[in-house]
Amino acid sequence: MKINMMAIVAFSFLIAARSLPVKQTLNYKSIFNFGDSLSDTGNFLISAGVYSPSIGRPPYGQTFFNRSTGRCSNGRLIIDFIAEASGLPYVIPYLQSVRTNCTVNFNKGANFAVAGATANDFNFLKERGLSVTLLTNKTLDVQLDWFKKLKPSLCKTKPDCDQYFKKSLFFVGEIGGNDYNYPLLAFRSYKHAIDLVPSVINKIINVTSALIEEGAVTLVVPGNLPIGCSAVLLERFSDDNGSLYDTRNNCSKPLNNIAKLHNAKLQEGLVTLRQKYTHAKIIYADYYGSAMQFFNSPSKYGFTGSVLKACCGGKNGRYNAKPNVKCGGKGSTTCKNPSTYANWDGIHLTEAAYHHIATGLISGRFTKPSLNNSSLFLKF
Ligand SMILES: *[C@@H]1O[C@H](CO)[C@@H](O)[C@H](O)[C@H]1NC(C)=O
Ligand SMILES: *[C@@H]1O[C@H](CO)[C@@H](O)[C@H](O)[C@H]1NC(C)=O
Ligand SMILES: *[C@@H]1O[C@H](CO)[C@@H](O)[C@H](O)[C@H]1NC(C)=O
Ligand SMILES: *[C@@H]1O[C@H](CO)[C@@H](O)[C@H](O)[C@H]1NC(C)=O
Ligand SMILES: *[C@@H]1O[C@H](CO)[C@@H](O)[C@H](O)[C@H]1NC(C)=O
Ligand SMILES: *[C@@H]1O[C@H](CO)[C@@H](O)[C@H](O)[C@H]1NC(C)=O
Ligand SMILES: *[C@@H]1O[C@H](CO)[C@@H](O)[C@H](O)[C@H]1NC(C)=O
Ligand SMILES: *[C@@H]1O[C@H](CO)[C@@H](O)[C@H](O)[C@H]1NC(C)=O
Repeated sequence: MKINMMAIVAFSFLIAARSLPVKQTLNYKSIFNFGDSLSDTGNFLISAGVYSPSIGRPPYGQTFFNRSTGRCSNGRLIIDFIAEASGLPYVIPYLQSVRTNCTVNFNKGANFAVAGATANDFNFLKERGLSVTLLTNKTLDVQLDWFKKLKPSLCKTKPDCDQYFKKSLFFVGEIGGNDYNYPLLAFRSYKHAIDLVPSVINKIINVTSALIEEGAVTLVVPGNLPIGCSAVLLERFSDDNGSLYDTRNNCSKPLNNIAKLHNAKLQEGLVTLRQKYTHAKIIYADYYGSAMQFFNSPSKYGFTGSVLKACCGGKNGRYNAKPNVKCGGKGSTTCKNPSTYANWDGIHLTEAAYHHIATGLISGRFTKPSLNNSSLFLKF
């Protein structure tokens, strides 16, 4: 079993190497990732068990993997491009070890992200009157516990662990987007989402601190995407009042303001963390800014299809994102050329969009301090 797993990993790596879209410019030896569907490489699909979610069916994965891997896209995610740029295999979903009931070698990292995960705990959201059913209970705290459980298999003594984690890259998020998505999609007001911002930020900062105390040294903490450009949210909040839309891109201004507030508060939190843990390298990743480039100038980046319409799903409404037809479900169609679309299934982005965002991070333009800074990362 162990051999099979390694063979699969090696095989995926070979494929990656053949179509390498990003040069190997990062020098980490392992990657640990926490988050939601933006970076889940298979955990939700494994934990869903007998219930068969649409992400486990075509056309998910069709563009790159030729099969549905549990990634919520047609191909690779941001974290996959980060792995490629580090010359590492795609980060293995942690629950792989639970499903196969055998030892998976996580020495090159593990992915704890689960699609649908929130930053806040289930009971917290329930107390706030969150009436919708959460897709998963694998919150950020649960993911942290998984990491703590895995850690003894990675390194034993403190010096051993220091040596190991010194060369590891930790991605804490994106996470928190679902804390806002659940109430927004359940027809709550903007204010309901805005009121959740402090709790989401507290949780992200708390878990980032805990990871540093566990030994993490280099951490990337991404902010939220421009959710006002998300097809499902645009559909849900469609409004005749033109002044609610940004004339540069037709994205929703009040929805994007939620993401902007989250990102501003998150960066404030990171400033405090850097003061507290001076030995750590805490990097903010500006997913919003990197994605906004193609929402503002779609054709410049090859998004000639439609940048606000979903590629996969129902051909209905202004955004192809009416809730009655789901990508991979009955009546769903897929656009001819997904690389000309930024939105994949209404909620998630296409591989092309993730590639663009990842390039912005790796080049250092959308990471503060820069992810591609030799003085920080090549000196082990
Ligand atoms: C997917 O299919 C294409 C075309 O047949 C092939 O070139 C590519 O190597 C396949 N990718 C994987 C990951 O198997
Ligand atoms: C995994 O192992 C445990 C304990 O050895 C056993 O109870 C469980 O049924 C096994 N699960 C699978 C899927 O094989
Ligand atoms: C999450 O946990 C709550 C409380 O334990 C439970 O009622 C609910 O069914 C769980 N939901 C999922 C999706 O596991
Ligand atoms: C995170 O929050 C918990 C609960 O409030 C607290 O017990 C813990 O000390 C915090 N961890 C860190 C590293 O700040
Ligand atoms: C449109 O939205 C703006 C900004 O929220 C608001 O000031 C204005 O009253 C709205 N107009 C109409 C006709 O509802
Ligand atoms: C925004 O939508 C309107 C109405 O469909 C359209 O006329 C306009 O060209 C769009 N603007 C952008 C920047 O896409
Ligand atoms: C990373 O930075 C180096 C040095 O500044 C530069 O040569 C390289 O092109 C950058 N890599 C990427 C992917 O932008
Ligand atoms: C790289 O990191 C060093 C040390 O932290 C810093 O002084 C320098 O400004 C950074 N360079 C860039 C391009 O971010």
